[in-house]
Amino acid sequence: MTKKVAILISGGGSNMVKLVESMVGDHPARPVLVGSNDPQAGGLKKAAEMGVPTFAVDHRPFKGDREGFEAELNAKLEAADPDIICLAGFMRVLTESFVRKWEGRMLNIHPSLLPKYKGLHTHQRALEAGDKEAGCTVHMVTPALDDGPILGQARVPVQPDDTPETLAARVLVQEHRLYPAVLERFAQGKTDPVYLD
Ligand code: GAR
Repeated sequence: MTKKVAILISGGGSNMVKLVESMVGDHPARPVLVGSNDPQAGGLKKAAEMGVPTFAVDHRPFKGDREGFEAELNAKLEAADPDIICLAGFMRVLTESFVRKWEGRMLNIHPSLLPKYKGLHTHQRALEAGDKEAGCTVHMVTPALDDGPILGQARVPVQPDDTPETLAARVLVQEHRLYPAVLERFAQGKTDPVYLD
């Protein structure tokens, strides 16, 4: 059975584009929905241009009422009945109750070599620590932030003259390889981690 994939974004959606582009031919999954907490997210237009249905639930009118925001988000997702949800640059922290609803079916990409640098400003923190390598991780989403079982990682060297921006750009190239590779494996039922060079 072909798996249905929903993708949640907050910004430009370059990872989302790579995921959608990957789900063709004999791939075991297809994109059914792209959603955002920001109605202005650039990725929504890109998804629509690729023929994927989109929605936005703006978090701002909820003024910190995370349960209220997530109830609307959840209703949109349930209507599409996805087998897999990919968080791809989705910048809202989700409550335990929301995560539990989708646990085992929700993946996230994070721009660090977890368990290093959970949360924000990962590239700046890697540079400040003097790390010689950086990278990205795809993991299962569990209630604790950036903490679930690792499904894949890709590494890049840190260059002596790197800034957070140049390092982020190098890591993003790897994100675009890693997330489609992990999603395809996950849709085939494989959860052992994959490590890309
Ligand atoms: C990506 O680098 C992703 O790893 C990061 O946001 C960027 C989104 O870019 N996600 C996080 O920081 C999650 N905490 P994109 O919109 O171009 O895919």
